[in-house]
Amino acid sequence: MKAAVLTRFGGPHSFELRDVAVPEVGPRQVRVRVHATAVNPLDYQIRRGDYTNYVPLPAIIGHDISGVIEELGSDVHEFAVGDEVYYTPKIFGEAGSYAEQHVADVELVGRKPRNLTHLEAASLTLVGGTVWEAFVQRAQLQAGETILIHGGAGGSLGADEAIDFTAEDYVEAVARVTDGAGVNVIFDTIGGDTLTQSPLALADAGRVVSLVDIAQPQNLIEAWGKNAAYHFVFTRQNRGKLDALTDLVERGLVKPVIGATLPLARMGEAHELLENGSARGLRGKVVIDVSGEAGA
Ligand SMILES: NC(=O)c1ccc[n+]([C@@H]2O[C@H](COP(=O)([O-])OP(=O)(O)OC[C@H]3O[C@@H](n4cnc5c(N)ncnc54)[C@H](OP(=O)(O)O)[C@@H]3O)[C@@H](O)[C@H]2O)c1
Repeated sequence: MKAAVLTRFGGPHSFELRDVAVPEVGPRQVRVRVHATAVNPLDYQIRRGDYTNYVPLPAIIGHDISGVIEELGSDVHEFAVGDEVYYTPKIFGEAGSYAEQHVADVELVGRKPRNLTHLEAASLTLVGGTVWEAFVQRAQLQAGETILIHGGAGGSLGADEAIDFTAEDYVEAVARVTDGAGVNVIFDTIGGDTLTQSPLALADAGRVVSLVDIAQPQNLIEAWGKNAAYHFVFTRQNRGKLDALTDLVERGLVKPVIGATLPLARMGEAHELLENGSARGLRGKVVIDVSGEAGA
C-alpha cells in the first residue's frame, strides 16, 4: 500500500510517498481501506518535532479516517466487511491515517454518517470527538446556555455572533452581546492570554475548557472572582463519542466545512496550507483524498 511516511522531523516536506506492508489484523481489530483523511495541528506539531519522544521515525502519522472495512479480526462481531466507518486512530504508539490501509482496535471505530461523503466524514473525527468531550462531557453545556469559542474560525460550524479577535476586544464584545451577563462556557483552543483573560467574559460559576498545553505558568487569578471551573482536555478516542456525533450529523445539526482537498502524494502542501491558513484565506478543514474519489 502507499503511505505518506514522515522520514525526519522538520518542515512540511518531510514526507515521502512510499510502498509499505499492509498491517496484520488482530482478533479485536478491523482493517479499513482509507478513502479520506485530514490534517490537524497535532500532525504538524508532531512533524516539526514537538513529540519526538513519542513518535519513532520513520512514522505514518495522521488522526482522521473515513473508509470501508475490508477485513475483520476473528472476535469482531459488531461490524461487517463493506461497512463504512470513520474514526481517529489511537494517538501515539500506533500507525496513523496517512495511508491507503489502516488497522484499528474495533472499539475506536464508529459508523460513518450516511449523509456525508468520506471526505466530509474524515474532516470531523478528531475535532468533532474533541468538541463532544469538551462541550458535553466536561463543560456539560445545556440547551439555552451561551458559549464563547476562541479560534472558532478553524473548523467553524456556524455561530450566532462572530467576533474578529484582530479587530475587537472579545471581553468587550461578549459584554455587549450578553448585556453584561457573560457567557456560561468558554472553549479555549488558543491558550496564553486567551486562557488567562477568559474569566473576564464568563458568567458567575461559568466553565472554561482548554485544549492547549502551554509550557509557561498561567495566572488564572481572574477565575476566582467568577467561581469558575476549569477543565483541561487531551482528547481520548472511543466509539461512543463518534456515535453521538453521527446522530447529530444525520439530524442535520452538524455540517462539516472543508477548506481544501489534496491527494496523499501532496501531504507537504497540505501541511503548509494548514500552518499558514489565515495568510491564504483558508476556512475549514484541509482534507486528503486518499482513494482519489474526488479527483484531487
Ligand atoms: N487537547 C486536545 O485534545 C486537542 C484536540 C484538538 C485540537 N487541539 C489543539 O487545539 C488547537 C486548535 O486546533 P484546530 O484544529 O481548531 O486548529 P485550526 O483549524 O488551525 O484553527 C485555529 C483557529 O484559531 C484562530 N486563531 C489564532 N489565534 C487566535 C486568537 N488569539 N483568538 C482567536 N482565534 C485565533 C485561527 O485564525 P487564523 O487562521 O486567522 O490565524 C484559526 O482559525 C491546536 O493547538 C490543536 O493542537 C487539542
